[in-house]
Amino acid sequence: MNIYPIPDKSREGTNCTNEEYLKLYEASVRSPDEFWGDQARKRLDWFKDFTKTSELDYHKADIKWFLGGEINVSYNCIDRHIKAGKGDHAAIIWENDAGTFSRSYTFNEVLAEVCKIANVLKTQGVKKGDRVVIYMGMIPQLAFTMLACARIGAIHSVIFGGFSQDAIRTRVLDSQARVVVTVDEGMRAGKPVSLKHTVDKGIEDVDIIDRVFVFKHTGAAINMRSGRDVFIDELLETAASTCEAERMQSEDPLFILYTSGSTGKPKGVLHTQAGYLLYASMTHRYVFDIREEDVYFCAADIGWITGHSYIIYGPLANGTTTVMFESTPLYPDASRYWKMIEKYKVNVFYTAPTAIRSLVKAGDEHVKKHDRSSLRVLGTVGEPINKDAWVWYYRTVGEEKCAIVDTWWQTETGGIMIAPLPAANGTKPGSATRPFFGIQPVIVDEAGNEITDPDVSGKLCIKHSWPGQMRTVYGDHERFMKTYFADFPGKYFTGDGAHYDKDGYFWIEGRVDDVLNVSGHRFGTAELESALISSGLAAEVAIVGFPHDIKGEAIYAYVILKDNVESDETTRKNMKLHIKESIGGVAVPDVVQFVPGLPKTRSGKIMRRVLRKIAAGEREQFGDITTLAEPEIVQKIVAGSIKA
Ligand code: WTA
Repeated sequence: MNIYPIPDKSREGTNCTNEEYLKLYEASVRSPDEFWGDQARKRLDWFKDFTKTSELDYHKADIKWFLGGEINVSYNCIDRHIKAGKGDHAAIIWENDAGTFSRSYTFNEVLAEVCKIANVLKTQGVKKGDRVVIYMGMIPQLAFTMLACARIGAIHSVIFGGFSQDAIRTRVLDSQARVVVTVDEGMRAGKPVSLKHTVDKGIEDVDIIDRVFVFKHTGAAINMRSGRDVFIDELLETAASTCEAERMQSEDPLFILYTSGSTGKPKGVLHTQAGYLLYASMTHRYVFDIREEDVYFCAADIGWITGHSYIIYGPLANGTTTVMFESTPLYPDASRYWKMIEKYKVNVFYTAPTAIRSLVKAGDEHVKKHDRSSLRVLGTVGEPINKDAWVWYYRTVGEEKCAIVDTWWQTETGGIMIAPLPAANGTKPGSATRPFFGIQPVIVDEAGNEITDPDVSGKLCIKHSWPGQMRTVYGDHERFMKTYFADFPGKYFTGDGAHYDKDGYFWIEGRVDDVLNVSGHRFGTAELESALISSGLAAEVAIVGFPHDIKGEAIYAYVILKDNVESDETTRKNMKLHIKESIGGVAVPDVVQFVPGLPKTRSGKIMRRVLRKIAAGEREQFGDITTLAEPEIVQKIVAGSIKA
């Protein structure tokens, strides 16, 4: 396949040429401690220097970086830029859902807002190490609250605003949080989202919550439970706007972010202070080739890891102006992104393939009517990007002048792992290309042997630790070990399939475990199945993914109903509603098919491969199904299958 060359615009003023990449990469894998130690001293401000760069035991999943060091993440994201003379420089530009209002916060203003919230949290009893659950939607106070937690050493756990009350409940219980920060209502595509009300339902019978802080956003009337709920804006009016940043140990927890795995229960991915911040900021600087005056816009939601690392921590640690918006790519119409890019003269834009595909469908005129000449780098993340979407992004949006960076990484990795650097390598649509500094990806076969031939698919693992790596599953280190380090001892297993080509470029093929990627959001099939079972309507359920034009992958549910339940539209609707209430709207299956049985082997294992084929539209070719206990069930399922 042809390599798309490095655009001229990317070369001028770059932070990293190919020669520099090769040199640094070689050094980073030859002596990781020396490399990361140098970077950590150069790029972060420490209260106390670390004494040991790393202490790693992959067999016990024991990972520590920058031992003995003391640091504060919020200080590194705010105060040090002010000290360097950037106090009046824009830190966060926020635009509201309707697109009718925007506000730019300088580093000085961010500091004042963050300190006020930090002081309120402190006076209300929040201490270092306490967990704070945040459920706010995309408003600037969300960013300030996260940074305020970081300032006082509280551990935040942000929950995506599209998740349901049950998701809040399980996360509050798992993290044993005592405090929730929320907002009266969010706004999304013109509609209010009743966030506070959802919190109320989520923690109705949870008695560990002492305080619910509520920001006013839409001003809607909401219920306040006396003794528990307080309007934080009132407390902020009298709060002091300075607050000393807590001295944190490098390995103190910074945040927990829940993500789906192949079992029923989402896991609390735990990231710590220094390693995470170094890795987020360095990847941000190099992969987007950030320049001093850049305006940077990542259109992800802060409820996901992309928002944590590349709206908040990475850009702010680099002193970059980060654009944050409350809305969706299609509201009020499909020109939203391009309009914002023109308005704020955005240089670097980062979004997901699913958004790109929906914009392709909406038509080129939305893009063309806006001036995009400020753009230099266009990024994508979340799932494999199909060639058509890549080429559209490159030609129509970037007019062949911008570098496309397809970035592969995970909640667990903290930051980007495999991606092109804009002025270091050419690109191939669909390939995330080469590893970042310090990252040693390998492809292994079932037996765990490293595959050394190009173009042979296997499982993607990473040898050696990197500072941004997650440290544990909150409260369940055993699960951390089993999930990531047990299958291929001595390596971190990503759960993705991949191969590399003769140029050494990596191609990510998607999950090899039972995790679906719907519009870039992760859901475990077991998690969706247990949610459907808990509706009380289904006796047995099997969930698979199938290819979808916009979402990448969509959800297909095969359901054996309980004896007394009608197989009609009402049941179908109730099941979808149940998923919406127990996980969230993004997890609602596209198809629910009622089936008389499931294709099981004699040992009782569901042959998902057959179900995936049926969901994808296959009617005849199922390969070898002779090991099924009842092979005739396959044709019965085919007969009742539903085309999405
Ligand atoms: C998938 C999102 C191909 C992958 C940052 C991974 C990708 C999962 C890419 C992590 C990409 C992410 N190309 N696949 N550029 N980026 N993925 O934790 O399957 O929400 O394991 O992190 O998304 O999803 P997560």
